[in-house]
Amino acid sequence: MRNVTLLWGLRSPCNLGCRYCYFGTIEEHRILPVTAAGALSHLSRDDLSAEQILAFARTMAGSSVRRVFLAGGEPLIWPPVMNVIAALKSAGVQVVVCTNGIPLNRPDVVAALLELNVDGVSVSLDSTDPDYNDTWRPARNGRDGWQQVIDGVRALLAARAADASEFPKVGLYSVITRRNLPDISAVPFLAAELGCDYAVPQPVALATDHALYGELALTDEHVAELTERFTTLYGARLPVRLPPVSYPERVTAAVTAPTGLVKRCFGGTTLFFVEPDGSVWDCPSSLRIAATPPERRRSIADADAKQLFAPTGCAADCALFSVDCVNMWPLMDFTRVLTRARGRS
Ligand SMILES: C[S@@+](CC[C@H](N)C(=O)[O-])C[C@H]1O[C@@H](n2cnc3c(N)ncnc32)[C@H](O)[C@@H]1O
Ligand code: SF4
Repeated sequence: MRNVTLLWGLRSPCNLGCRYCYFGTIEEHRILPVTAAGALSHLSRDDLSAEQILAFARTMAGSSVRRVFLAGGEPLIWPPVMNVIAALKSAGVQVVVCTNGIPLNRPDVVAALLELNVDGVSVSLDSTDPDYNDTWRPARNGRDGWQQVIDGVRALLAARAADASEFPKVGLYSVITRRNLPDISAVPFLAAELGCDYAVPQPVALATDHALYGELALTDEHVAELTERFTTLYGARLPVRLPPVSYPERVTAAVTAPTGLVKRCFGGTTLFFVEPDGSVWDCPSSLRIAATPPERRRSIADADAKQLFAPTGCAADCALFSVDCVNMWPLMDFTRVLTRARGRS
């Protein structure tokens, strides 16, 4: 049965330097290189080669992998990404590209995504306020930002319309912090206005010792406003798909009780996380990665997806629920996005 979803951080480099990024910042890693297992860095010292990545992608035919979310770093600034997408599609795998949206200003990139029948494109945009977005998601070239993301989304939607195609589905993903709570509903409203298909406001995930924790993290102090904003969003019945109705409750649970039990978690059964160095984890939760014993560490290098993701039976309970996990629920609910008829919420 094809029931496995991969979140695949394909490459480490990025053209933006988002201050809260899971990959940290290049500046801090130049001073303090990352060494811990599973720790990510845009400096990309151990990224697999294009040949290794392609060889693995070609093993997916006949495997249990149904859908791959290609993220990073920024996947669309790495030219071989189109060969990887082609290999995955030939293997019968659905492909959703997660991008910061700037590369969508390149007509060749948009044309290739359409030609390869990519199933979804999730574009990150944190706010309807360009200044807020560009403060927290600055471009390394000092020029690109909010406007180029909007232009990129419009270019992709226009090319899709010109092709009279339903695919790729296009959505906006926003990172919600204590400083942009109104964007929980404002960005999905913008997504609807642009003609997108889905919108996902996701809570920022920061370790308590992260330099920005005090400035950005959501805590129990924000529950009342989180609840109010999500109620407005779900009550608006926008013509864009939102995460399931249980999602707002999971967000508030994660920010009030940062750890807890998840019954029959999909992590390690139908969801896996692959890092740019090829390492395979049950999910991207830093708690779960830290708890992974050495004998369970695996890699896609020289591996075959049919063996690596062989069915493992029942999902196990996980006692490591955290804000990292909340961001996986919208991924695991993606069939609703891909099968949504235009204009229906
Ligand atoms: C790591 S990025 C990779 C793909 C692409 N570069 C992008 O920005 O969309 C994948 C998603 O994670 C989000 N993200 C990054 N750091 C985060 C954090 N600390 N907490 C929550 N989401 C985060 C990004 O905004 C983006 O939506
Ligand atoms: S664009 Fe994506 S990968 Fe790049 S720094 Fe921002 S969140 Fe991280």
